[in-house]
Amino acid sequence: METFRKHGSICIQGEIEVPGDKSISHRAVILGSIASGTTKVENFLDGEDCMRTVEAFRSMGVTIKKDKNTLLIYGNGIRGLREPLKPLYFGNSGTTARLMLGLLSGMPFSATVYGDESLTKRPMDRVLEPLKKMGASVLGRQNNCYLPLTISGGDLHGITHTMSINSAQVKSSILLAGLNASGLTKVIENNRTRNHTENMLRAFGANINVVDNEITMDTTSELHATDIYVPGDISSAAFLIAAAAIKPNSDLLIKNIGLNETRTGFLDILAKMGSRVDILNRRDIGGEEIGDVHITYHPLKAVTVEGDIIPRLIDEIPIIALIATQANGRTIIRNAEELRVKETDRIKAVVDVLSTLGAKIHGTEDGMIIEGVTPLSGGNVKSYSDHRIAMMTIIASLITQDDVRIDDVSSISISYPKFKDDLNSVISTN
Ligand code: S3P
Repeated sequence: METFRKHGSICIQGEIEVPGDKSISHRAVILGSIASGTTKVENFLDGEDCMRTVEAFRSMGVTIKKDKNTLLIYGNGIRGLREPLKPLYFGNSGTTARLMLGLLSGMPFSATVYGDESLTKRPMDRVLEPLKKMGASVLGRQNNCYLPLTISGGDLHGITHTMSINSAQVKSSILLAGLNASGLTKVIENNRTRNHTENMLRAFGANINVVDNEITMDTTSELHATDIYVPGDISSAAFLIAAAAIKPNSDLLIKNIGLNETRTGFLDILAKMGSRVDILNRRDIGGEEIGDVHITYHPLKAVTVEGDIIPRLIDEIPIIALIATQANGRTIIRNAEELRVKETDRIKAVVDVLSTLGAKIHGTEDGMIIEGVTPLSGGNVKSYSDHRIAMMTIIASLITQDDVRIDDVSSISISYPKFKDDLNSVISTN
């Protein structure tokens, strides 16, 4: 149990950088490991999730040297992974699990994979169904749908898959399988999801082609190592940006954040709610857009968050819900049923935490409804061992009247190990 509250009148001020992007860090390790040559990854996120991906490749014979946030990956080539001697442990990381299942299904060996309690409950059939159609065979719990799973493959053929859910993990899993499949692998998206896999596959020289919402992968005999700079993670920055959005007199500059359009829905919503958000120094690094985000406090008004924007801000919905408690009017979030199968059921967790703290919020099947402006009190809450719920609750404690006691915040190290220090470094007294 840890207690949080800031005494006195504070605001968020200053200039800061946040750690590297989690999604891009995973993909850099995956592609670097199966490329020919040495890939240098700078600003790698050494949170627990991405380290699971590193460990998985080390277990399959890839040498990966790490010096602080720089990785040197001595790639084994596209068909050079070694059969792992032991089951691969993916911890809490859904991205590792789903992307690796895709890659492993194209390897000429079997691998058993497992995860922590949360990952063991998360659905894997969304990737296994298309992978089985491509020729992979899978054995696992509950009708071969849940971890632990054993996957065997090696003789895949391409398929055309029209996405029934909006998931970059599913899309990426199929594309990684497609690298080693005969013929064309095509993924058709209804709503665009984060496209880091496509961008990075292109940068490594894969036979990939993207036209509108159709991505086509052809068998690829070799990927070429390339150096990668990982931009700051907008999903981590979102917590600090939110703090500035809800604390009067705040003025915060966050430098070198990834601004890939498939990830910036949160900034669009904040601007709609009335915050002043300016983007400076926009540039492209290795096919990914990057820039500085300047946020200044302005009073907030409610919004409706729904439809196409949802995949562009899916991980930011917990923090948007907190911001909405301080926005004038009724905020409605819908079409976000995917939150039910994240690290925890995030609709249930957000509603539980914020209502315990005095917010007027209720959950719906696919989202939530929040009434603002509502002052928050304090209380004892559970973080559900979910990093984004823990960070959202700590940001909430900046505006509560009383102490907020959180059962456990250790999950923060999954995506943002130095979150508490970074937050403290931008808190000023008014
Ligand atoms: C991710 C995709 C999203 C996101 C997750 C990271 C990725 O999940 O929520 O945190 O790196 O591809 P889904 O693909 O399940 O939407």
